[in-house]
This record gives sequence, C-alpha cells and structure tokens, in this order.
Amino acid sequence: MAAGARALWGSKIGFLLAAIGSAIGLGNIWRFSYMAYEHGGGAFLVPYAVALLVAGIPLMILEYGLGHREQASSPLAFARVRVGWEWIGWAMPIMALFGIMLYYAVVIGWCINYLFYAVNQSWGGDPEGFFFKQFLQVSDSPFHLGGIRVPIASATFFVWFLCWVICFREVNHGIEKACLIFMPLLFVLTLVLVGWTVSLPGAAQSIRNVYLKPDWHKINLFTNPEARQVWIAAFGQIFFTLSLGFGIMITYASYLPRKADIVGNALWTSLVNCLYSFVAGFAVFGIVGFMAQAKGVGPAEVIRGGPGLAFVVYPAALQQLPFGSRLFGFLFFLVLIIAGLSSGISLIEAFTCSLTDKFEWSRKATVSWICLLGFLGSLIFTTRAGLLVLDIADHFITNYGLVTGGILECLLVGWVLKARLLRRHVGASGGMRLPALWDILVKFITPAVLAVLVVNALLRELARAYGGYHVDAVILFGVDWLLVCVAVAVAFTFSAWKPEKLVRVHRPEEEHLLT
Ligand code: ALA
Repeated sequence: MAAGARALWGSKIGFLLAAIGSAIGLGNIWRFSYMAYEHGGGAFLVPYAVALLVAGIPLMILEYGLGHREQASSPLAFARVRVGWEWIGWAMPIMALFGIMLYYAVVIGWCINYLFYAVNQSWGGDPEGFFFKQFLQVSDSPFHLGGIRVPIASATFFVWFLCWVICFREVNHGIEKACLIFMPLLFVLTLVLVGWTVSLPGAAQSIRNVYLKPDWHKINLFTNPEARQVWIAAFGQIFFTLSLGFGIMITYASYLPRKADIVGNALWTSLVNCLYSFVAGFAVFGIVGFMAQAKGVGPAEVIRGGPGLAFVVYPAALQQLPFGSRLFGFLFFLVLIIAGLSSGISLIEAFTCSLTDKFEWSRKATVSWICLLGFLGSLIFTTRAGLLVLDIADHFITNYGLVTGGILECLLVGWVLKARLLRRHVGASGGMRLPALWDILVKFITPAVLAVLVVNALLRELARAYGGYHVDAVILFGVDWLLVCVAVAVAFTFSAWKPEKLVRVHRPEEEHLLT
C-alpha cells in the first residue's frame, strides 16, 4: 500500500462483522450476566433498553458518522473538528487499551485455562473454591498483590500474542479476515449452547422468574436511592458492550469507502449485539435454574455475583449433568475466548490507528510495541490481587470514563461541529437517512441524561466507597487509574500535527452542506 494511503475494508460484510465482533465480547456474556444478576435480573433489562435507545444507537451513529466523515482515528477526527478537543480523542483509545484491554486480555487468559479445566473437570466438587482459592488465589486486599499466578500470566501472554498476529497486518487482511471466521463460528456455537441450556430441567423457571421478571423497586429512582447505581451501571454496560467511548467505532468507520450506509450499519451493530446479550443471558440464567432445581434450593442461593459468576456457575452446573459436561464446558469457554478475541483486537486497533495517524509510525512496529507493553501492563491483573484491582478499575473506567467520553463527544459533534452537518454527511453517504430527532438527541437529551446519571452516581460514590473496598484502594485503582489515562491523553497532544493533516479530505459533493 502507498505510504499515507488508508486501508479500506474488503467488503461491506467484512466491516459489519468486524464491528459486531468488537461489540460482542466478554461484555455480552461474562460482564452482562453478572451485571444483570447483581442489579435485579429482569429489572436491569429496563434501564438497559432505555440506555440503548437514548445513548447506544445515537452514539453509534455519531461515532460511525464522525469516523467516516474525517477518515481518521478519534484524536485526529476530534482535532479536525477543533484542535483543543484532541485530548478527548486520545483519552478514549487510551482508556480502551490501558483501562480495559490490560485486564480484558487476562480474563480471556482465564478462559483459556478453563478450556483445559473443563476437559479435565479440574474443579472437582467445589467450583467456587477452585476459582477463588485454587485458581486465582485471591488475596485479602487489592494492596496485597501476592505475586504473579504463572498459569494466568502464560495464558495472558498467549492472548497478546494472538492479538499481535491478527493486528500486525492491515485491517482488511488481519482483523477483517479473523472476524469473517470468528463471528459465524461464535453465532453457531452460542445457539448450540443456549439451545442445550434452556432444555435443561429448571432452566425455564429461572429464566422466567429471575431473568425476565422485573423487580420495579430496584430501578425506581424516586423510591430507591440504590436505583441510581443500577441506572449508571446499565448505561455503562451499553457503552462497554457497544464499544462506545473507546474510539473503536470511529476508527473502524474511518476504513469505510465513501459510499456507506452509516445508519443501517449502526442499527445492525447495536441490535445484533444487544440481541446476542439477551440470548446469551438465557444460557447463564438457564444454568442457574437447572442447578437450583438439582440442589432443591432457590436460584439466589446457588450463586454469588461479581466477575467470577461465569467461572463459578457454569462449572458448578456442569457437574450436575449426567453426560456431556466436558463437551459443554469446553464449548462455553471457547465461545468466551472467540468473543473476547474479536473485541480485544479492536481495543488494540483504536490505539494503534491513533498513533499511526499522528506520528506516522509503521503499523507493524506500533502493534508490536503495544502488544509487548500491553502484556507487561496486564501482569498486575495476573497477580493474586488481580480480580480485586480489575473490579475497581473496570467500575471507574466504564461507568465514569466511557460515559463522560460519550457526553463530550455529543457536545463536540452536537455543538462545535453541529449535529446538522454530520446528519447531512450521513445522508450524502447513501443508505438510510437520519431523522432530525437525532440532532435533538445528540445536542440535548443524550448528554443531559448521561450527565445527570454521572453526577448522581458520583454523589453516591462519595457517600460510600465502591464495593466495600478500602477508600485508598478505590482512589488508587479507580480514580487515579482514570486520571492517569486522562493525563497521558493530554501529554499526547503536546506534539503538534502536521498542518496538512488537520485539513479534511476534500469532497466536492459535500460543499453545499457546509453553508
Ligand atoms: N464491546 C466489548 C465487549 O462487550 C468490549 O466485551
């Protein structure tokens, strides 16, 4: 490819599968299930659906539209709109890489270990004890790192290596080709898994009574002060699961050809992703019901929430099966690995493209350094305190970092660029047209709702340290982690752009839109 030329996706379906691959990840199975479980099962689905409509779909269109218009990663796209906003464009992929991918790779590493454990049924009669005490060997405080767990660190190394192999080549040869294989495989495996789970005795009851039945009190903002945490968690989950606020969708759309159906692609990505989460929830809640029935207790008594849920509930349920437990255990963790990898590579891509856009470094060298440094950074999550640090960092980066990024990108596009201009660009690119309601959402409704949620959740946070951790741990691994990402983002803006870079790609057919 000529120097400076930008790679394009090889096909429409290639882009769509890569975008859906980025969206569908550990967030849909591992994170969604424990979020839904902790926040009242079916009750969580209501704020989740509201968050999809109020923030998810409008922002997906915004990110696709902006990336496509500017043909740039988030820092360059933001800088082209207004140079002073560049740091926000950096904060997004930096949070994606240093806030999320560092632990994300480790969780995929857990799944790789569990692939083997599933075949050997290594958890014996106590999957919970096995996960927390034998496998993670969780320490009693986030400050007691307690050394690296070698099986986790080696699997994490393998994950970064796989990501390096895929990201090393241009998107149309690496990420696109990988997703063309990963995604159909993922859909088929997931359907087999869900179909099998819902057919188990007790599954339907748990799905009906725990997963699909809303507990209105849990989400009632007027009568229940705790409901604020449920709502912010639902919005945070939508950002996480749709890969919004990471700069990923801006970057992915920058590789689209000039004629592209931005709205159609945004709707497909958002809806397929959320449908996937919803359906995958049947597998998790179904297995809870099966296990509860087998033990003769209520669903709430068989599990404990948190990031360990998928790693405890599934193995525990498999034990109750008369046959097929090795096969289905293997299948479950394989699904998690494929979903995780297709998202992990997008988290790396957003930062890679940001660096190559600005510094014009070679893609191969950039990806190699990112993967090497990324692996080293991941090591903290492979220590005995890894799970605790992950829980705190994820809470702050997702609920505050990503959501605040969403507010700021609404303000940038809605007011600085003008929502109307981007809407017209989307219209001029072909495909579905965007109603003017989108302008109102992006300018007023979405940022206002997100701001109210963030402020309220913050007030709650001040009243009580997150998750019962010591306040110093919350500040160090949550607040400081987030602030360091922002500080690094600001540092990246110190070097100036070559002036010609800040000039948008000239498109004569759009000139009439600028008036
Ligand atoms: N969107 C990705 C996930 O849900 C990050 O896992």
